[in-house]
Amino acid sequence: MKKKIEKTRVPIVLDAGCGWGRFVKKLRSYVPKNFEMVGVDLDHLSLQYGKTINESVAFSRSEIQGLPFKDEVFDIIMCSGVIHEVKNVKGRNKALREFARLIKPNGQLYIIDAFTKYKFVNILTRLLQYIPKLEIEWIFHKGQLENLLQENGFKITSIEKTGSRALGTITGYTFTAIAHRSTWPRRSSAPTIEIFSKNQK
Ligand SMILES: C[S@@+](CC[C@H](N)C(=O)[O-])C[C@H]1O[C@@H](n2cnc3c(N)ncnc32)[C@H](O)[C@@H]1O
Repeated sequence: MKKKIEKTRVPIVLDAGCGWGRFVKKLRSYVPKNFEMVGVDLDHLSLQYGKTINESVAFSRSEIQGLPFKDEVFDIIMCSGVIHEVKNVKGRNKALREFARLIKPNGQLYIIDAFTKYKFVNILTRLLQYIPKLEIEWIFHKGQLENLLQENGFKITSIEKTGSRALGTITGYTFTAIAHRSTWPRRSSAPTIEIFSKNQK
């Protein structure tokens, strides 16, 4: 990720489901190049706290299934630990469709999340997520995200394993994908916020 960001001319990066901006802070510390960062999240408190410690980030409250930005504005979109919090396939598909709409052609998408290769974990977590007390989220098969990415015009360039938990039934992966479709999804009725890099003329 570091190398790709360095290659892009003053990239504009969207952190979709940014929380308080943990990821932004990390990126800033290891990518020397300047970049513009926009963070969106549903959670007010996280955003409020994020604003106090990441002053250079433009934070906005929004759900990733319907983002308030104009088409093709971001060079890079990252989404870490968020997809598994979206309850159904329709919502997950909507989020990827939004990423496809917002990303520039050949822009890079990074999705970091937990997956399972076990059908029973997939089915069980899908059912148990509706019992609020348990606080369980639906864990996708890796293949389910692969399908959604391809259906939305992304070409997967790498899938890296980042660790495992719950006795090896759940594994973390980083998906890297390039937006390469010839026709782009549009949402003409979208409320639109234009994002310009401070360094763009
Ligand atoms: C596990 S945290 C990850 C935060 C951050 N990406 C990180 O890696 O530190 C998941 C975040 O996703 C946010 N979230 C969950 N569903 C969302 C949605 N549909 N739209 C926007 N944000 C969402 C939550 O509010 C939470 O801040």
